Amino acid sequence: NSSNHVRIVEVGPRDGLQNEPVHVPTNVKINLINKLSETGLQTIEVTSFVSPKWVPQMADNTKVFSGILRKKNISYPVLVPNKQGLESAISVGAEEVAVFASASEGFSRKNTNCSTQEGLKRIREVVDEAKKNNLKIRGYVSCVVGCPYDGHVKPNEVSKVTEALLDLGCYEISLGDTIGVGTKQSTHKMIKDLLTITSPEKLAIHCHDTYGQALVNICTALDLGITVVDSSVSGLGGCPYARGATGNVATEDLIYMLHGMGVETGVDLKKVVEAGHYISEFIKKPNASRVNNALYTK
Ligand code: HMG
Ligand code: MG
Repeated sequence: NSSNHVRIVEVGPRDGLQNEPVHVPTNVKINLINKLSETGLQTIEVTSFVSPKWVPQMADNTKVFSGILRKKNISYPVLVPNKQGLESAISVGAEEVAVFASASEGFSRKNTNCSTQEGLKRIREVVDEAKKNNLKIRGYVSCVVGCPYDGHVKPNEVSKVTEALLDLGCYEISLGDTIGVGTKQSTHKMIKDLLTITSPEKLAIHCHDTYGQALVNICTALDLGITVVDSSVSGLGGCPYARGATGNVATEDLIYMLHGMGVETGVDLKKVVEAGHYISEFIKKPNASRVNNALYTK
C-alpha cells in the first residue's frame, strides 16, 4: 500500500442496525452516532430512507437524522433507494446520499424488487434529482464476488454496474462483498478487472466478515491502491435480504490493523471501542470486534 492514509466510512448505524431484530430506540441510535462523531471519523452513514415495510428498523430515519449533532468536518450520508427516499432525505437536510445496485440479478430482486437494469433506471432518477439539489452521491455495488441467490459473480458484471454508476455521477463506488464470501484471490481478480475501467481513487471496499476474510480482502484492496474502507463499529449487522450474512468488518479491528501497518486514519481507537461497547451492551450481543474485546476496560 503506497498511501499513508485511509478514509474509513463508518456504516454501523445503517448497515449494522438495519438487520438488528431488537428494536433500537431512536435516542440510542442518536447517542451512538454522536459518540462516533467524536472519534475522528470523517464519514458516518447515519440511516436509510428505504421502505419501512422492507426495513422497519430504519423507519425513524427522519428523527435520527434531525436528532444528531452534525459536525462541520464530517459527512453524514444516508442510503436512498428511490425518489421517495431522496425527497425525505432532502427534507431533513441530508447533503450526501448513497445509492445501491447489485452485480447479481437474484439479490437485486430480493433487495429492491426489480432487476439490476430497472434498479439503475431508478437510480438515474434519484441521481438527476440529487444533482439538482447539489448533493454528493456515493454508489454501492452489492454481491461483488458472490450472491446468496445466484452464487459466483463474474468480475465483468461488477465492472459493468460500477461503470454505469460512475457514468451517472457517483463520486465513489463502494464494492460490497455482501455475504463475505470473497477470498484474497477472488477479491484481487474482481478489483483487477475494475482497474481496466476506472482508477483506485474512485473505489472503496465494503467487506462483510461472514467467513472471517474481511481484513485479508481489505489488505488486497489496499495493495491495489484503494484507500477508502467501509466498516461497522463492533462489527454490527448484516443485510436483511442476504441470509446468514454477518456484519461488516469491525471498525476497531480495521483501525488496529491500519495503525499497525503505519497507515493513518485520524480516528481514535479508544473512543471507537467505547462507542462499540455502548451499542453492544444495548442490543445485548457479544461484541463481534476482537479488538474491542481485547481493549475494553470498565
Ligand atoms: P416496492 O415494494 O417494490 O416499492 O419496494 P413500492 O414503490 O411498491 O412501495 C411499497 C410501499 O413502500 C409503498 O407504501 C411506498 O409508499 C413505500 P404503501 O403504498 O404500500 O403504503 N415506500 C417507501 N416508504 C418510505 N421511503 C421510501 C419508500 N419507497 C417505497 N423510500 C423498494 C421497492 C426499493 C422501495 C424496497 O425494495 C426497499 O425499500 N428496499 C430496500 C431494502 C434495503 O434497505 N436493503 C438493505 C440496504 S442495501 C445493503 O445493505 C447492501 C449494502 O450494504 C452494500 C453491500 O453490503 O453489498 C449497501
Ligand atoms: Mg453492506
